[in-house]
Amino acid sequence: MAKFRLPDELLFIENRRAIQKTTTASMAGKVCVVSGSTSGVGLSAIKRLARGNAHIVMVCRNPVKAENVRREIMGQYNVPVDIVIADFSDLGAVRRAADSLSRDYPRIDVLINSAGLHSTSRTTTNDGFETVFCVNHLAPFLLTYLLLQRLRECAPARIIQVNSEGHRFGGLDLGDLNWERRRYAGLRGYGASKIAQLLTTWEFADRLKGSGVSINAMHPGDVRTNIGNNNGPLYRWFLHNVTWHTLKDPVISGEALYYLAAAPEMAEVSGRFFHLTIDEKPAAPALDREKGRKVWDLSMQLTGLTPDP
Ligand SMILES: NC(=O)c1ccc[n+]([C@@H]2O[C@H](COP(=O)([O-])OP(=O)(O)OC[C@H]3O[C@@H](n4cnc5c(N)ncnc54)[C@H](OP(=O)(O)O)[C@@H]3O)[C@@H](O)[C@H]2O)c1
Repeated sequence: MAKFRLPDELLFIENRRAIQKTTTASMAGKVCVVSGSTSGVGLSAIKRLARGNAHIVMVCRNPVKAENVRREIMGQYNVPVDIVIADFSDLGAVRRAADSLSRDYPRIDVLINSAGLHSTSRTTTNDGFETVFCVNHLAPFLLTYLLLQRLRECAPARIIQVNSEGHRFGGLDLGDLNWERRRYAGLRGYGASKIAQLLTTWEFADRLKGSGVSINAMHPGDVRTNIGNNNGPLYRWFLHNVTWHTLKDPVISGEALYYLAAAPEMAEVSGRFFHLTIDEKPAAPALDREKGRKVWDLSMQLTGLTPDP
């Protein structure tokens, strides 16, 4: 009897249960810049990278939290750990972080964009962007773009976008990126930010072809982190009393990110989406390349970057 195969759109269910790939490749001396590394997925990633002997550069918004993590990791693994402060709801701060990274690090081997949030209500940044769209998409877009030259100089180098199966929630309306005309729905706002990031990931990958710099996106598993804790008491109660039991230890996210960052067999792979370490087809709206070119242009414009020649 032929084996039943899930439709592409549902393969993430199977991939969630699949045995994930790992690597023992060393990252000794490699400079790895990781945003959102004070908590959850990003924290798990830097712990794994530190175990692989990498030089860690944390890009974080909270200096006290970052310093505590820095001390813990340095104490445990004896690797260099530096901190660059930037709140991703402020694109000026992201620019300053990119400037200091370009100035202070002649080598950057890996950039992992993990900072992110999910909000059930619409808020806006001081620049007037819907906050989730800014933190999850515009800020990492800007940081990545501003570090491209350094990454190219340091090739082979790798960029990894911590994205989400949540891109399947949809919500990306190019005429209403700031949710001014629609009623905000948290999951769709989150989905919109993640679709925008995926669409620009393919654009980055095209521009980086032949440069030795790869860029991939990944879903870090469904893991127990602080995501969502910024929301109301009912949401938090449900998260911690119902959803929590279905979630896994974020150690799996760190292990997967380490694989994508370090595995020799990943060196030439670019422009793909991974469920942890399994290559997976994203949802159709995240594969609309025509829309992707528009999202690229809009992201350039909104982050104040000069358009491509
Ligand atoms: N957890 C999951 O199951 C899951 C599933 C799919 C995708 N993801 C993705 O994984 C990534 C990390 O999330 P997580 O689950 O690890 O959540 P988390 O534990 O809440 O960690 C989020 C990280 O992002 C940082 N961050 C949030 N807002 C920021 C801002 N305005 N500026 C700078 N940094 C900011 C946080 O800093 P503070 O420590 O200062 O708050 C923290 O370091 C996100 O992109 C999320 O979409 C997670």
